Amino acid sequence: MCRYRLNQYKKDRLEISSELLAAFQSDDIHKFHKSIDEYQPTPTHSLQSLADELGIDKLLVKDESCRFGLKAFKGMGASYAIYRHVKEQWETKFGGSFEIDDLYDRSKLAELQLGPFCTATDGNHGRAVAWFSRLLGQQAFIYMPKGTADARIANIRSEGAEVTVIDGDYDEAVRRIARDAKENGWQVISDTAYPGYTQVPRRIMAGYTTILAEMEPGLYPDGQPEVDIVILPAGVGSFAAAALWYYYDRYLDKRPRFVSVEPAAADCFLESIISGQGQAKQTTGNLDSIMAGLNCGTPSVEAWPLMRDGIDLFLAISDRHALKAMRRYYYATGDDRRIISGESGAAGLAALLALMNEPSLCEAREAIGLDRDARVLVFNTEGDTDPDYFRKVVRG
Ligand SMILES: Cc1ncc(COP(=O)(O)O)c(C=O)c1O
Repeated sequence: MCRYRLNQYKKDRLEISSELLAAFQSDDIHKFHKSIDEYQPTPTHSLQSLADELGIDKLLVKDESCRFGLKAFKGMGASYAIYRHVKEQWETKFGGSFEIDDLYDRSKLAELQLGPFCTATDGNHGRAVAWFSRLLGQQAFIYMPKGTADARIANIRSEGAEVTVIDGDYDEAVRRIARDAKENGWQVISDTAYPGYTQVPRRIMAGYTTILAEMEPGLYPDGQPEVDIVILPAGVGSFAAAALWYYYDRYLDKRPRFVSVEPAAADCFLESIISGQGQAKQTTGNLDSIMAGLNCGTPSVEAWPLMRDGIDLFLAISDRHALKAMRRYYYATGDDRRIISGESGAAGLAALLALMNEPSLCEAREAIGLDRDARVLVFNTEGDTDPDYFRKVVRG
């Protein structure tokens, strides 16, 4: 059973701090990503057979499963935030400017004597921090919640990072790494912001905007989005909020409508909206979902105001919906391309399948104009990051 809420706080302008705005408006974001050897824009696929089956005009999938060989979009945020951190350290310590190419100069990094990088993660962000730390020859410490799949731990260890699985959930891992980093002099590269820790997460959000920019001008040839509805997965909300800013800033009143999707067991944005106080709240869910990347109990304090102002429909789905979407992506029909999608990656399509098929979501579907003329964009944010489990799901 899905739960939803149409947003009573929706605004025509997003409330955004001047610091976050400055991060989004930095002119070095895309240029930085292009400096990474493995960088390639990811493809956007049109699944027309599935769109016809669902009774909508068009279904587009921006496929992040091949990003940097990490099988998820998270490298875009972590790499940019690390670059900006190193640049800031250099310029504070030595004066002068630190350019993008300087980041790959090992002698410069040695001079700077950076401490190790660290983060809490439910998988993909930690892998991204470990990967970029390795590229720069830096050590990384990664904390993961109890119950994390072995494959996700191995993915991070294979990047040379030290992984600690803590006896607690994701939110507890965030608290522990903040404490241990302080004691040990590590630099936290967290994708969630909390009171007193906002700078790095803002830059991570800024890094995600390249994902949106890559769809220009193909998807938006006339400066007008050729999509009506965008479905955004939300864990701590950094990715979804970055996408909201991008569309509001670029398309103003021509922007599409937005749906956020979370696991019912970790529906912190839906619960925050339902609470009716306009404040971010922790989920009352049990944080027990196979959608590991979305299994976060507390909204990022930087993402929350944008989500509150910009999302049209907050939706929470069950694991069953994610499993169905993973299979539907895999067993493509007609000329549609097969898409490899992990449990969290499939959440966008899972939301669309639920909205089109479940009678209890009829009001929500109509309210956002999800009809036969609708052109819908979803993000496959993750491939088979746990390959054994993926095989079981698609073969089971
Ligand atoms: C595959 C995947 N999709 C979506 C998300 C959600 O991103 P955010 O936590 O920024 O909301 C994550 C977060 O880790 C993820 O790993």
